[in-house]
Formats: sequence, C-alpha cells, structure tokens
Amino acid sequence: MKLSLSTSLPSFSFFLFLFLLVLSVSSEPLRRKDEERASTPPRGWNSYDSFGWAVSEEEFLQNAEILSQKLHAQGYEYVVVDYLWYRRKVPGAYVDSLGFDVIDEWGRMIPDPIRWPSSRGGKGFTEVANKVHSMGLKFGIHIMRGISTQAVNAKTPILDTTTGSAYQESGRVWHAQDIGMKEKACAWMRHGFMSVNTDLGAGKAFLRSLYQQYASWGVDFIKNDCVFGDDLNINEITYISEVLKELDRPILYSLSPGTSVTPDMAKPVSGLSNSYRITADDWDSWGDVASHFDVARDFSAAKMIGTSGLLGTSWPDLDMLPLGYLTDPGSNEGPHRRCRLNLKEQRTQMTLWSMAKSPLMFGGDLRNIDDTTFSLITNPTLLEINSYSSNNVEFPYIRGSSSPRGRKHGRYGMYPTRVEESEVEVFGLTSCKDPKASGWLVKGLDQDLERICWKENMEGRYGEPFCLYKRNSLVESDEEIMYGRQYQGALHLLASENAKYCLNASPRRKITSSEFTRGSFSRCTWNANQMWEFHGNGTLISSYSGLCAIMKKVKANAGAAGARSWIATGRSGEIYLAFFNLNPDNMVIAAEVSDLAKALPGQSVTSCVGKEIWSGTDLGRPTNDTIATMVGSHDSALYVLNCN
Ligand SMILES: *[C@@H]1O[C@H](CO)[C@@H](O)[C@H](O)[C@H]1NC(C)=O
Ligand SMILES: *[C@@H]1O[C@H](CO)[C@@H](O)[C@H](O)[C@H]1NC(C)=O
Repeated sequence: MKLSLSTSLPSFSFFLFLFLLVLSVSSEPLRRKDEERASTPPRGWNSYDSFGWAVSEEEFLQNAEILSQKLHAQGYEYVVVDYLWYRRKVPGAYVDSLGFDVIDEWGRMIPDPIRWPSSRGGKGFTEVANKVHSMGLKFGIHIMRGISTQAVNAKTPILDTTTGSAYQESGRVWHAQDIGMKEKACAWMRHGFMSVNTDLGAGKAFLRSLYQQYASWGVDFIKNDCVFGDDLNINEITYISEVLKELDRPILYSLSPGTSVTPDMAKPVSGLSNSYRITADDWDSWGDVASHFDVARDFSAAKMIGTSGLLGTSWPDLDMLPLGYLTDPGSNEGPHRRCRLNLKEQRTQMTLWSMAKSPLMFGGDLRNIDDTTFSLITNPTLLEINSYSSNNVEFPYIRGSSSPRGRKHGRYGMYPTRVEESEVEVFGLTSCKDPKASGWLVKGLDQDLERICWKENMEGRYGEPFCLYKRNSLVESDEEIMYGRQYQGALHLLASENAKYCLNASPRRKITSSEFTRGSFSRCTWNANQMWEFHGNGTLISSYSGLCAIMKKVKANAGAAGARSWIATGRSGEIYLAFFNLNPDNMVIAAEVSDLAKALPGQSVTSCVGKEIWSGTDLGRPTNDTIATMVGSHDSALYVLNCN
C-alpha cells in the first residue's frame, strides 16, 4: 500500500515530538553515563612533580583555578591529587612510613584533615570536587593497590554497600585482615599497602566500598598505582574495572606504574582502563626523555595507541610533564626549583608526547609558570596532533648526518652517522606468553646446588653470565610457615651461593625511566615479590605479578642515540612529520617525500608544501624530493605538510 505523505506526516511528527520529550527528560543522566570515555588522550594537571605527596587543599585549588582560567580552553581538564593525600604531614611520616594515615571506621583512606580542611566531618573530597566542578574542570585522585597495612593492623570491619553495615558471609563479620594479602605488599611501598584477595566476597565488597565512596565524593578520574608494570595486579584491575562500569558516574581509569611494560603485557589491561603507563616515573633529565622513544615506538608499531578501553578508549601513557617549577622525587616538600631540561629538550618531550598521543598531564606548579613553558604546553599544533591526529607511528625512512664545524651540507651528499652504541643487559619482566621469556636454564653445580642462568649470555659477552642460585625457601617463623604454604614449590633466587639477598620481581623503591639494573636484591623474606617458579619450558614466573623474568639488551645511554622521526595524519589530511636528534651533536636529518606514503596506509604522496613550526621556515615551493633540516642536539623539528 502506498503511504500518503500528507496524512502520515502529522502523526509522525507527533511521535517524534513524544520521542524527543522522553529523550530530553531522560538524556541527562544517560548521556553522562554512556558518554564515550577518553575519546581523546586525557589532559590536565597532576600535583606529584611539583608537590611530591605534600600538596594542601589551598595549593591544589590555586592550581585548579589557574588551570581553569589559563589552560581549560586548550583542553586541560583534569586536576589530579597524587599519592598519600591521607597521610599526616608530621615528623616521621614519609613515603614508606607506617601509622600516619587517616582511615575511616571501614578501613578506607580519607583525606588528612590538616592538609584538606574541607574534608572534616566525614565529607572526604566532596567540597574540593564541588569547587573543581564549579570551575568547569574534572577532579581526579591517586590511589594505591588494595588495602592499607594500617587498616589490616586495625582489623577494621568491611562495609557492605548494599546493606550499609558490616559485610557478613557464612554467618560472620569479615575484617580487613581477612582480605589483606601481607605477602603481596606493594614492592615499592611495602609498609603502606597490600593486595586484596579478590577471590573472596569480602575482598570484592571492600574494593566496591572504596569506589562507591570516590564516586559519591564526585571523583572523575582514578590513577591506580602499584597495579601495573612490574607490580601487575591483574585481579584488582579486573574487578575495579567491573565496579567502575556499574557506577552512574563516568570515572576514567588510569594505571601505574609502567616499569618494563611491553605491548604484550598491556594487551590484557588496555580494554579494562582508559590509560596505562608504559614507562617508570619520568623526571626532568635528558636520559628520561630519551628512554621514551623506544617504548613509544613499540606501542605505536603494535597499534596500541587509542585502542578500545573501559567504556571508551585507552591510551599508552608516557607520564606527566615535569616542566616549569618542580620538586624532587620522593620529596615531602613543595616546589623549589626550575626544570633541568633545556628548552630544546622540553620541546622534544612535548613533541614526542603529542605525536605518540600520550595523556598530557602538566606537573609544574601553575602558580609559577613562566611564559616559555606556558606557550610550549599550549602550542596549538602540538595539541591538535595530540588530540586528533591518526596513523601515528615512528617513521624509519630518514637519514641523519652529524655536522662537523665548517663543513657545508647540501641537500644531498649526506653520509649516515655512526653512533657508538654500547649495550647493557637489564633484568625485566614480560608476559609469560612472550617466547623470549623461555630463556632460562638450570645448571647443576653439584648434588644440592643449582643455578638458573639466562641462556643468551652464557658466552659472557656482557661480562659474567647472569645466573642466580636456586634455593627452596627456608621456613623460619610461624608467619613464614603460613605464607609458605601458598608457595609450595616456589623458589628464592640468590645473588650468590651463600648470600642472604634474594631477587625482587619489582624494585623496592619507585624508579625513574632512565634507571636500569641487572635486578634488585634485598634480604630474603617470604614475600611474593621474591618468590619464583621455574617451569620446564624455560620460564621463570614471579609469584607477585604472574609475569615472567627476562634479560634484555638496551643501549647503554637509554636509547639516546641517533636520529628519530615520527609521522601522523591530521584531521584535514595534512601530514605531521617530526625529526628528533637524540645525539650530543647537531645533525642534519632528512626524509624523502616519496617515502612518506610508506608509513601512511592508502595515501599517495608526490609533492608537499608546508612549514617547520619551531623555526617558522616555509618549504617555499612544492617539494618532491628531500625534506632536510639541521636539528640541534636533543632538539626536534616539526613539519606540517600539505601533500598531493
Ligand atoms: C611456559 O609454561 C607456563 C606454565 O605452564 C605457561 O603459562 C607459559 O605460557 C609457557 N610459556 C611459554 C613461552 O612457552
Ligand atoms: C620533481 O619535480 C621536478 C620539477 O618539477 C620534476 O622535473 C621531476 O620529474 C619531479 N620528480 C618526481 C620523482 O616526480
């Protein structure tokens, strides 16, 4: 039957009207909850680089106010309180001290009322979040893995948020000590926090009680630390991600730290989160900046930039930007010094972070931001690239030539640089599915003593072969017997035959990106961080994280050698091409126009116009051969090209 338009139209528009009416009534909460999370890399400010753990409410809100006035228009949206906001700032309190934290009757961390006066009377961060929201910004907090040792020692009951009273199961009330896994203490804050047993209903109830409280305070962003990298805690990440999915409040979920993270290690968590760190802490040293190039390349090559994440998108995170006015790692004090990177190095950092689409979390004290730093972090080209570019990858088709004084360089006739590179072996962890993990073998010395050695360096090319002495762990105290039962068959790995020092799966302190080691050792205990299982297929599995040990070769100067380049496509079809000079000398870096298409699927490139943004130099007429420029030591060049 043919439908008559004139008669159907009124009824159609009537239904449309009804539909829109229903939509407008119900869309507000719906839209907020279902809105795509982290559709672009999150951007904002974090208190750690400038205040350590000691930031106060006043200092925090002053920074938030400046962010809202000067940086919100450029997409800086989240203000995040970094770690230990619950620790009383009194003599004796430091990063791994025990007994200085403020907890509520359910064993949950609450803000230190001296540093956060608006939290008094059980209000938590509600007033701070309200103020942040009234500035048009979003509010974030840092939290550690699991549960605090203080709650476990205080034997606090666990809140069941479905009943509002103590969690009961099997006819009894459950307490913090039933769910805290003392043998799985956070390796770099072992007195402070430990894993929660997520196999138990009470363990789940505890984590739920935390996140429901954060949502009720008005938190929009959680940075969950000591759950990723060497400290991987897949059980907690998985359960917290489930809880966050069910909350009415959209909360971005960010994982930390990123020590020895590889794409294989990240794949199981990227879908559960909105960002995850892929390096250890980044500070303002050139070694730290340079050490991000290889790992960023590996994640772009594995197509991990902007994969599907927790109710939205997930981003590999290169860590905060320690630019401007800062403090020192682990400090109890606020900012007292300027960033130690020179302007070229800062530009290189911002350019790499933008080309790799890392979250941009500024770390300097905004109350003291200088004009140069401000214009760098608000550079419109970089921010456009960071939010909206695509096909971002390292671009290998370049040539670099060092530039001896007095020698003239034409556009041709360059010779490749020979950069002396020495390699060192470092100890690290990887997914146990990684074939490289099967690199260990057992070598018997005599009847009772065996060594476990990394096969590859048995020839001793890197000095002594890396071997560990295997010992079935000795049980000395009742406490050890209790934990020991969980680790039947597990091994301690000792640095030498008679040593009392055992190999740790995760370093015992927070480390920075440029620190590499052949493994960290400390006095042997029954902690999961020192327990290993050797499997017949040559893998050595950590009982702490479930990850497998490997030795890998890295450049002695943390990857800082040679010319590097990245490429990406812009929203309007432009091509972004960045050159980086990681050498200590100036260098001419060059790429052929005809090679650009090799990195850009489905695009053909014959000729380009455009300019280099730091120098403002125009390419002039259309170029179909070489794009080349002198790049200073540790500096970068960034071209915006229009090609056909
Ligand atoms: C080695 O064996 C362990 C334990 O069975 C297994 O989980 C792991 O995937 C294996 N790894 C490799 C690289 O074969
Ligand atoms: C590049 O441009 C020049 C001058 O327009 C032209 O003669 C030459 O054939 C072009 N080369 C290529 C590879 O397209």
